[in-house]
Amino acid sequence: MKKSIIKSTGMFVPPNVITNHDLEKMIDTSDEWIKQRTGIEQRYWIDGETGASDLGFEASKIALENAGWTAQDLDFIIFATLSPDIMFPGSGCLLQAKLGLDSTPALDIRQQCTGFLYGLATADAYIKSGLASKILLVGGEVHSSGLDKTTRGRDITVIFGDGAAAVCIEGVETDKQAGVLSSALHADGNLASALMTELPASRLPIRLPRDISLDDPRYFPVMDGPAIFKKAVRMLPKVIKESLEKAQISLDEIDLIIPHQANMRINQALGQFLKLDDNKIFHNIQKYGNTTAASIPIALHEAMEQGLIGKSGDVVLFTGLGAGLTWGSVIYKFL
Ligand code: UT7
Repeated sequence: MKKSIIKSTGMFVPPNVITNHDLEKMIDTSDEWIKQRTGIEQRYWIDGETGASDLGFEASKIALENAGWTAQDLDFIIFATLSPDIMFPGSGCLLQAKLGLDSTPALDIRQQCTGFLYGLATADAYIKSGLASKILLVGGEVHSSGLDKTTRGRDITVIFGDGAAAVCIEGVETDKQAGVLSSALHADGNLASALMTELPASRLPIRLPRDISLDDPRYFPVMDGPAIFKKAVRMLPKVIKESLEKAQISLDEIDLIIPHQANMRINQALGQFLKLDDNKIFHNIQKYGNTTAASIPIALHEAMEQGLIGKSGDVVLFTGLGAGLTWGSVIYKFL
């Protein structure tokens, strides 16, 4: 049977570094608070007109080059984002055109922080069913243009960063145990309001009222941070266990856990709960903040560049929880 093999990765962040000290000048916050509560030291924000597909395009060019593929080799594109360039069409179509293509199918998925997990599981299903064999999976986000950059929005504004990463995935015929070994995905839409941006909303009789007021907090992301934090600490160990059972492997066989980078404290709590050595959990939130759908593939790219994973037989576990709510875990073994 064909296995879904990661051929290459690529990442891109915009050049504009925003440190915690820069945010201190904008809103009532402090470097100390941000570092202590989240682990974040800086993030990258776009400067000027740049969409998620533009960041994704830069990351994709690197991933394609690293795979030795051209865009014409692709037979499917999956774009995970909660911050599409425009209301519609999706960023996957916009990226496809930027890649110089005109008929390759492109699918957008709106799974927020778990976009990469849902995307990887989808890519795996496409490969195993024979529907595709060379897939580009991208996670890309531009948060900075939609944040409430006043003290009212400080809990969220300090955590989100812009960025993108791309992964080339190929269906390879092999009897070896390799590729995506298991995936466990979940959602609970009853908790949608715990983290959302409500407006513009097509469910309203008039989606964009004439008197749009940026004093209306519904135009900005709102989050019940403490509730999501507790949910993550409770649900991530469970979903990790579920994916291990599905793959029929033990936690000891995992070489590295790459969690969604939402809060350093969530990932440290996860490590303590699982009784893992610190070097078994990857962190780079200090450099990028929370880039939602881009966070896991950016971390994957960096972990591979640092030589922490990537050798034949290495096993990596991806996990995360975020808006939806959605959460999940995917286990991958390098060929
Ligand atoms: O990726 C999507 C999924 N999202 C997550 O996983 C996020 C999970 N939640 C979190 O990471 C944390 O809840 C936050 C980092 C968002 C907030 O940290 P917290 O320790 O839960 O703080 P809190 O919301 O309970 O607020 C504590 C205090 C409050 O002040 P009072 O009421 O105690 O006086 C807040 O107003 O901290 C205040 N605060 C801030 N102070 C300085 C909130 N944001 C800030 C800020 N700077 N940026």
